[in-house]
Amino acid sequence: EQIEKNNFEHFMLKEIYEQPSAIRDTYRGRLHAEEGIIRMAGVDDNLERFLNAKRILIVACGTSWHAGLVAEYIFEDLARIPVEVEYASEFRYRNPIINSDDVVIAISQSGETADTMAAIKLAKEKGAFVFGVCNVVGSSISRETNAGAYTHAGPEIGVASTKAFTTQITVLTLMALKLAKAKGSISNTDFHMHLQELETIPQKIEVALQENDHIKEVAFKYKDARNCLYLGRGFNFPVALEGALKLKEISYIHAEGYPAAEMKHGPIALIDEEMPVVVIATRKGHYEKVVSNIQEIKSRQGKIIGIVTEGDTSVRDLADYVIEVPDTIESLTPLLTTIPLQLLSYHIAVLLGKNVDQPRNLAKSVTVE
Ligand code: G6P
Repeated sequence: EQIEKNNFEHFMLKEIYEQPSAIRDTYRGRLHAEEGIIRMAGVDDNLERFLNAKRILIVACGTSWHAGLVAEYIFEDLARIPVEVEYASEFRYRNPIINSDDVVIAISQSGETADTMAAIKLAKEKGAFVFGVCNVVGSSISRETNAGAYTHAGPEIGVASTKAFTTQITVLTLMALKLAKAKGSISNTDFHMHLQELETIPQKIEVALQENDHIKEVAFKYKDARNCLYLGRGFNFPVALEGALKLKEISYIHAEGYPAAEMKHGPIALIDEEMPVVVIATRKGHYEKVVSNIQEIKSRQGKIIGIVTEGDTSVRDLADYVIEVPDTIESLTPLLTTIPLQLLSYHIAVLLGKNVDQPRNLAKSVTVE
């Protein structure tokens, strides 16, 4: 087993560190930045279906559902196609409206999740076209869907999903860019810029991983917290949800993810000097607004851990700790901001002596209802 872990203490840590190479594997043969081309057979072969779709429905569970939420922001922003994201478990039982010209994207690392499979069967019965984004090759979901794209992340052993999440986002970003180009909803300059920037993401993740020792110190400081709040806006709102889920899953600390601006409608009541608040505040999107959210936390004595762009000073002046990630274009920030959140929950769980790779009550894939 130690050999399989490649000298990492846990599978989860190994998988966190594999993300640069996993993402390269995801876009290998698909992303051709020089020529300005994205090749994805499952999309190319069904391009008309995608272009004629009045909307895209995304169904998934757990971390894959969070990847779906990131995709909603990316698809709507770049490809201008309306997207709805649903928990597969809700979708399958709520008598949903599914039209035959809908495209349903089912996201599943394992390709075996029972609720997601049931949602796919329902969508197919109604005549929708179902596209799978799976990691496990030949899995049940990859066989049941009409077409699909594998993430090629390699085996993920840790129950808490890490590299599956970032590679799902990579596949979905490639799809959104490809459709945006085909629809003409993105300028040529923007398209090329996105392709080139996507190609630099693995190297930027390497840089983000260099914060590991510093993140361990932050983890030591907050490991005894009983609650933790994660805030983000725009593309990084789903990252806040995923950060909170990671902490819950492996450290058993109660954590909630929230859109930063919603804090005033509830969670702000929880903030006191005991409450660590992780705020994703990269220098893109609604940066100024996030900074003012941070000021609101500060004035209530909350402890602030800012996830910031390299060289940031405004958040640094307010926060108790900052963790830096390299700069990138806004739609790709989730691929970087996710990394410190994974490491933070990993180190907290290790310091608390929890079973990181096999947390209590959780399973890697949930094949029953
Ligand atoms: C379980 C796992 C999660 C995963 C979810 C969905 O709860 O513990 O890590 O996100 O299932 O799994 P899937 O394989 O469909 O992505």
